[in-house]
Amino acid sequence: MTKSGQLWGGRFTEEANETFAAFNESFRFDRRLFVADVSASIEWAIALEKAGVLSTKDRNAIVSGLKKMLDDEAGDSAYFDGLTAEDVHSFIEGKLISGIGDAGRKLHTGRSRNDQVATAFRLWVRHEIEHLGGLVAGVQRALVDLAERHADAMMPGYTHLQRAQPVMFAHWCLAYFEMFKRDRERLADALKRVNIMPLGSGALAGTSVNIDRDAIARELGFDGISANSLDAVSDRDFAVEFVSVCSLIMTHLSRLGEDMIMYCSAEFGFVILSDAVSSGSSLMPQKKNPDALELLRGKAGRVYGHNLALLTMLKGLPLAYNKDMQEDKEAVFDAADTVSSSLRVATVVLINAAVNEARTKDAAAAGYTNATELADYLVKKGVPFRNAHETVGRIVLFAIEKGQELNELTTESLKEFAPEIDTDVFKILSITSALASKNIPGGTSPERVKEALGAAKEYLKD
Ligand code: ARG
Repeated sequence: MTKSGQLWGGRFTEEANETFAAFNESFRFDRRLFVADVSASIEWAIALEKAGVLSTKDRNAIVSGLKKMLDDEAGDSAYFDGLTAEDVHSFIEGKLISGIGDAGRKLHTGRSRNDQVATAFRLWVRHEIEHLGGLVAGVQRALVDLAERHADAMMPGYTHLQRAQPVMFAHWCLAYFEMFKRDRERLADALKRVNIMPLGSGALAGTSVNIDRDAIARELGFDGISANSLDAVSDRDFAVEFVSVCSLIMTHLSRLGEDMIMYCSAEFGFVILSDAVSSGSSLMPQKKNPDALELLRGKAGRVYGHNLALLTMLKGLPLAYNKDMQEDKEAVFDAADTVSSSLRVATVVLINAAVNEARTKDAAAAGYTNATELADYLVKKGVPFRNAHETVGRIVLFAIEKGQELNELTTESLKEFAPEIDTDVFKILSITSALASKNIPGGTSPERVKEALGAAKEYLKD
């Protein structure tokens, strides 16, 4: 250790230029790897002793020095205040040496910051995957809760943002539930590739120290060890994959946000947001703005940006480690933080939201959302679907001209378009009948939706 915590002074005769040192420095953000890096260092020291490189005495000194650092940091929120270092790895080594003396100088035997950072970063991402998985489940719970509070609510379903067919409000909630279910699966799947240990890969070539890599991996909870040292120190696929999953979570939150922003506008009036998650206007006294939801939508772009930054950072790198890779940290940290706060806010918004059921029902019943029912009715009476579609189109045009809904037309006027139509038509034109008829797995009939809600609750028990 030469100058202030620097790990590589021997070959250098000049001090680092200040502007360069500040540019090169990553401690201000990679300190977030502190616990992961110290934990891996403890296992490294134990493995070095088993390999006959460290005496038991030195190993004990190193392990207790590192454990003390973990305790000190856990008990002091200002632990890092005012401290400087090139990166978290030099910080930890420097601190260990100043704490326990010369034994600390042996810890770095056989390892490099290149396998060290890859290991610590994977441990950090692993922890974050578990954390985010729990938060996604929280959003799912809030969706199920909202669906149950409005179990009988009906609303128009849209395509092209034009009223299409009625759906149960709970069906809409469960659509988002499914998206978040896939997100949890994706997190779990990404974890398989994240949870592989690079330690023992050295700077790029492996190490000549006879380390039991499998034993370290077991102690650190990794599922396995990397198979190629060049790949292990230069692979950041796991970071790209993690931020990709984060991007999709944000996509889903953003779409949820957009739907709800529309639904709480006066034009829709479907959803009532709680004051607790809305903001006012500095000028217009009447305003209640859905800022929380707009931020969900807005922050998606920020996470996508990190995703692209990571891909671009990696694409031209020669094997193996390059300092470009230090840029991976802030992208991943900010993506994780953004998704985490977004999931929490989405949960709060949903828990406090309410539906204006009369309004959603009226909207579902208006705007010819039962036109498809009428076409299906004609099909049951033997009319080929294409002809039925054409006929009903003409009936809708006629109804629009008269300013009436389909069920307000008389049987006689309907018969003029299709003699197959009889008085029984009015039964199928009701919103409840339209909904009940979608009694197919995945469909929106109240019965199926109730089943789906039950399945969702069952799923959330695990
Ligand atoms: N702070 C560095 C990073 O995040 C650690 C690895 C540095 N290795 C090196 N050989 N300079 O990538």
